Amino acid sequence: MTYQNIILEHAEPGICVLTVNRPKALNALNAATLDELADAIARVAEDSAARVLLVTGAGDKAFVAGADISAMQTMSALEAHAFSEKGQRVMHALEALPIPVIALVNGYALGGGCELAMACDWILASERAVFGQPEVNLGIPPGFGGTQRLARLTGRARALELVTTGRQVKADEALAIGLVNQLMPAEQLMGKGLETARLLASKAPVAIRACKQAVQRGLDLDLANGCVLETNLFAVAFGTADRKEGMTAFLEKRSPKFEGK
Ligand code: COA
Repeated sequence: MTYQNIILEHAEPGICVLTVNRPKALNALNAATLDELADAIARVAEDSAARVLLVTGAGDKAFVAGADISAMQTMSALEAHAFSEKGQRVMHALEALPIPVIALVNGYALGGGCELAMACDWILASERAVFGQPEVNLGIPPGFGGTQRLARLTGRARALELVTTGRQVKADEALAIGLVNQLMPAEQLMGKGLETARLLASKAPVAIRACKQAVQRGLDLDLANGCVLETNLFAVAFGTADRKEGMTAFLEKRSPKFEGK
């Protein structure tokens, strides 16, 4: 598939950058953009050299300003059902990638944009980022997983306040409520994203994948079953060459060289 609305590139070996690229519509997500995102995420999933994915939006105004309202204007209920499922499939696929996925939010992350950012493992944002689920102002609830992921990230009461009022949240508040991990001036965002990606790319991929699975799946389990999952993933990692290298390097007082085996 050739892309009209997104860009997928290798910024550095092992580090992929996925950019939603419709700046004239503030990178709003229409069906074609969602299809391209699904294709790009599948490509990253199949790319054995990919170690980290950064997700961002083109231009300096928006990460993604939501699902495309002009496309939704004429949708029937059945079409809206399919559109919501399409959006949710993209968010699930992003979340399910075995490598770390970091959102770099440079401006508005509203509606589907906030949902896209929340489907990433964590969010780095510029000091002028704005988050929110304003769908209620259009007479609809969020449809790409926002009610679920926002509640899991910020707790029930804050999520309910934000989805029922549609209130926009500025960067400092987003940091305070646990939506964002770190804020920085806009011009430092890509640099910090790449620095974080390099650090993550230097780790053992099987260990990273195990951490991701244990935290993500564990959150949907009770503590006892989550710990069983953790034990199994812990044991699997012992079968890797990278585990031997990590422990040997520690004992030999040198830095480990992980090879993804
Ligand atoms: N869907 C479709 N087009 C969108 C869009 C969206 N979610 N968000 C912005 N755009 C378009 C605007 O229609 C406008 O197009 P035009 O230049 O052809 O008129 C262009 O992007 C620029 O947006 P504009 O509203 O003029 O910019 P602004 O700086 O005045 O406001 C926002 C920025 C983000 C506050 C405002 O665009 C907005 O509220 N967008 C919708 C947010 C939303 O409700 N998202 C949830 C959707 S489910």
